[in-house]
Amino acid sequence: MNEPLSIAGRRVLVTGGAGFIGSNFVHRLLAKHPDAHVVVLDALTYAGRRENLHGLRDTQMTFVHGDIRDPEAVATAMQGCDYVLNFAAESHVDRSIETPGDFIQTDVYGVFVLAEEARRVGVKRFIQVSTDEVYGEVLEGHSTEDWALNPRSPYAASKAGGDRLAYAYWCTYGLPVVVTRCSNNYGPRQYPEKLVPLFVTNAIDGEMLPVYGNGKNTRDWLHVDDHCDALLTLLEFPGIEGETFNIGAQHELDVLTITGTLLELLNKPKTLIRYVEDRPGHDRRYAVDSSKLTRVTGFTPKIDFKTGIRQTVEWFQANESWWRPIKQGEFREYYERMYGQRKVLGEVKA
Ligand code: NAD
Ligand code: TYD
Repeated sequence: MNEPLSIAGRRVLVTGGAGFIGSNFVHRLLAKHPDAHVVVLDALTYAGRRENLHGLRDTQMTFVHGDIRDPEAVATAMQGCDYVLNFAAESHVDRSIETPGDFIQTDVYGVFVLAEEARRVGVKRFIQVSTDEVYGEVLEGHSTEDWALNPRSPYAASKAGGDRLAYAYWCTYGLPVVVTRCSNNYGPRQYPEKLVPLFVTNAIDGEMLPVYGNGKNTRDWLHVDDHCDALLTLLEFPGIEGETFNIGAQHELDVLTITGTLLELLNKPKTLIRYVEDRPGHDRRYAVDSSKLTRVTGFTPKIDFKTGIRQTVEWFQANESWWRPIKQGEFREYYERMYGQRKVLGEVKA
């Protein structure tokens, strides 16, 4: 089984490569492996931005506009590829509460279509990018890979379905699957529905920052480049088929603390904070134990939070031409639906 793996000179299929993590991954892969060729398969949903891949040449990347649920599009994109990473997903918990069906379709059925084609083609490695949210809320300790899955949102449940379906293709058909479960990412090109980019862009415009509940919900925050580097390591690491790896930063922060940091970096007042009605089923805490990844591959994250978050804020300050158009159109309607009627529970006095 310990066949040497190398993406040098190979075609790598990256689904969801126009999204936040996928596009950062494509740029990082090509910077580190200029001789590889990336095929991006992306349906360009609201979260997929073609401009996230600007600057890449046709000799480096082929873009296929298509859906992972469509076997024909998947077969076209996977042709000649030995390596597959599946980033494509509906990814936002709040939207999964509104429209859970879209999540089941892409995050479970889409994985089935990809895994079927990967089996037919006989790929060398198939990385299913899962999430730490499949463990459900972790009130104490840190979840290891052998913990029971206890997803509590339609997003997390769909991801758990895709995660275990990919694993089943290893057990049943020998598809060389590796599953990863990463904690919350932050960094450039993150769609402004998520906490960090929403709060940064709202604060720049002097708009309110809607903190759900009491702001004590905690997440482990990892810079997207560290996530991508962990995936690049796992893509070529021998003898780990059928394995699952947590990826984390061991840097837990609650929402209020991260909000305070963002306001400080932007030199904006705390009075922008509004405590608003909580997210239904809001998971109190996620925390992964990622020691297996370090033990097996030697990988450790390199970017400390202070530096990473400052650079992220600076990126949003310098790239208004990226996020301002996004915050119009579809996003505006979404924002109105999600926050327009939301009860305000409290404010911070000047
Ligand atoms: P994102 O929402 O920014 O991007 C998702 C991408 O997938 C978009 O480009 C979108 O167009 C594409 N897509 C959606 N449905 C598709 C379909 N049916 N066919 C083809 N393409 C489709 O998401 P992200 O934050 O970049 O997350 C990427 C992956 O990483 C997801 O699988 C997510 O579950 C996982 N993940 C994310 C985080 C995080 O903090 N963002 C943490 C752990 C794991
Ligand atoms: P989010 O970025 O949606 O990621 P997750 O998938 O972990 O929920 O949210 C991160 C945390 O921030 C989570 O505890 C919910 C909270 N949050 C708010 O308080 N207000 C908001 O407007 C958003 C989007 C998130």
